[in-house]
Amino acid sequence: MITIALSKGRIFDDILPLLKSAGIDVLDDPDKSRKLILSTNQPDVRVLLVRATDVPTYVQYGGADMGVVGKDTLLESGTQGLYQPLDLQIAKCRISVAVRKSFDYAAAMKQGSRMTVATKYVAIARDFFASKGVHVDLIKLYGSMELAPLTGLADAIVDLVSTGNTLKANHLVEVERIMDISSHLVVNQTALKLKQAPIRKIMDAFALAVKQED
Ligand code: PRP
Repeated sequence: MITIALSKGRIFDDILPLLKSAGIDVLDDPDKSRKLILSTNQPDVRVLLVRATDVPTYVQYGGADMGVVGKDTLLESGTQGLYQPLDLQIAKCRISVAVRKSFDYAAAMKQGSRMTVATKYVAIARDFFASKGVHVDLIKLYGSMELAPLTGLADAIVDLVSTGNTLKANHLVEVERIMDISSHLVVNQTALKLKQAPIRKIMDAFALAVKQED
């Protein structure tokens, strides 16, 4: 049995064509069913639905043989024991700094005045502002980061931006792009040794599909 850990949403939607290229069709629709283990047309391949931040944990400890996870999550949670063979070039977005329109970000950065930054990506934000030599106070949030500058909780946020619609709807502006993000394939190293042929087959099909998209 090959077990693939995926998270619902953008990653799940974008991985379906790649799975198809490997001959795998997911038979259950996660939007319609409450099942957490989804069957596929291949009797020896199943999909686990887990939180995005839990994908590396499932793969690292062998609860899943492989998984698909955003670079943001990998950078934030660390990648010990994970083999990362492939950037799948899906679920592309970026991590950026955003502020209220009235906040002078350039001046705050220049003056080195202590900014408060709210984010789910504490490690990424800390590294980024440290690289700029700017001292910030970080506040960890778990979602709806956009509210932080609007309520006075923080001066700025560090968050994922895809279309930019969420920032726009909340009257925030993107002032700095920290890094581009896409989703990566991660594989459990022991599973790769023990189930080499079926895992390689999926990896090779994904690699070919990604190349053809280039
Ligand atoms: C992300 C991010 C933004 C939004 C950006 O949230 O936190 O809120 O997407 O997308 P946009 O630029 O296309 O509007 P997500 O929906 O992944 O949920 P989250 O609350 O779990 O972060």
